[in-house]
Amino acid sequence: MALLLKNAHIVDPSVNLDGVADVAIVDGRIEAVGENLTLDGAEVIDLTGKYLVPGLVDMHVHLRDPGLEHKEDIESGTRAAARGGFTGVCSMPNTKPVTDNGVTIEYVKSVAASCGHCRVYPSGAITKGLKGEIISEMGDMVAHGCVAFTDDGHGVQGAGMLRRAMDYGKMFGKVFMSHCQDEDLVGEGQVNEGVVSTRLGLLGWPAEGEELQIQRDIMIARLTGAKLHIQHISTACGLDMVRAAKAEGLPVTCEATPHHMFLTEDDITETYDTNLKVNPPLRTADDAAAIRAGVADGTVDAIVTDHAPHADWEKSREFELAPFGMIGLETSLALVNTHLVKTGQISYQRMVELMAIAPRQILGVDQVKIEAGSVADITVFDPEVRWTVGEDGFESRSQNSGFKGAEVCGRATDVFVGGVPTLRDGVVC
Ligand code: DOR
Ligand code: ZN
Repeated sequence: MALLLKNAHIVDPSVNLDGVADVAIVDGRIEAVGENLTLDGAEVIDLTGKYLVPGLVDMHVHLRDPGLEHKEDIESGTRAAARGGFTGVCSMPNTKPVTDNGVTIEYVKSVAASCGHCRVYPSGAITKGLKGEIISEMGDMVAHGCVAFTDDGHGVQGAGMLRRAMDYGKMFGKVFMSHCQDEDLVGEGQVNEGVVSTRLGLLGWPAEGEELQIQRDIMIARLTGAKLHIQHISTACGLDMVRAAKAEGLPVTCEATPHHMFLTEDDITETYDTNLKVNPPLRTADDAAAIRAGVADGTVDAIVTDHAPHADWEKSREFELAPFGMIGLETSLALVNTHLVKTGQISYQRMVELMAIAPRQILGVDQVKIEAGSVADITVFDPEVRWTVGEDGFESRSQNSGFKGAEVCGRATDVFVGGVPTLRDGVVC
């Protein structure tokens, strides 16, 4: 199959591209990049006015499959990913059963290969059943294609347990991704501890509950030499800890979500909108500003969604009983474009680093470049189109977005995975 993508504004800092050109694709690979290209027998797609970038990867996604398919499954979750402009996602292991051995990794990979709309890079649990008691079958999982280890949804509570897991698991060369939460300190905390938790009469989830484990995990990474990635960082002080670890030369990276950058605890009002209940919780306006500054200055390595689908009936419960999490795959690109690029805080080059290059690098999967020879995983978006979140529904099986009704700008129009279209003119293929 041959494709000729004409007249898009290509942005790929890894090959110093930032300008209008054509891309020729043959048999899943980029054949040529340049001006006035022609390609015999190719389907020609005019992309005038659109941006073309290396395929976006979201390295923090809950596909809920196996076992929680009433929220999402691999087909619907990767469908949402394609709609949002992603060519790949890293799936989280808090499935049912937990993805903590080679068989469950194999399940995720084979279902994704048969019905997925993007690549799925599975992560596997650090501890069996996410219980923090016994190291998972790391070698078995890696042999079956696991790209990273995480107990996401939980921090590994025992420092000795994390030390042993890192000491053992580092031989596989995979990154340890930490959800930082000291359960003893956080308890039943629902929202950020402070003025807002007091006003709403909800139990507080203090910043220190996250920061204690960020600092601890950095120290254990220093002790063991394992690669550490801090997930969904939400506080200014936590970010400073990562900044210091990087300055020291430790192999520490971190990620931030659109909801921790563009929403704050003040958005949770007397309506008790459970779509705004996330873990870690929405923090203060100062925290959100610090995370955005960290994205601009390079302290934050990757933007991820923590796409966490939950069914209507689950989110319709009282705030204390509703599960944590919001969906994000279909809004991330637009929110970043609207609030970071269009406001001049970051360039499209930096956006590509945050959403395409760094995620692949941290996960240790092959890079994609807009140059001859590369695999043709490509995202095309219209940077100007204005739309309202939720107005035309979601591809995800769940609808729990905290951004419903937000006016945003920019949306993926076309996506190619290995040269095969997964989104054409905004429609999932
Ligand atoms: O908000 C969240 N939801 N944070 C997590 O860490 C887990 C996730 C989920 O699985 O729903
Ligand atoms: Zn998490």
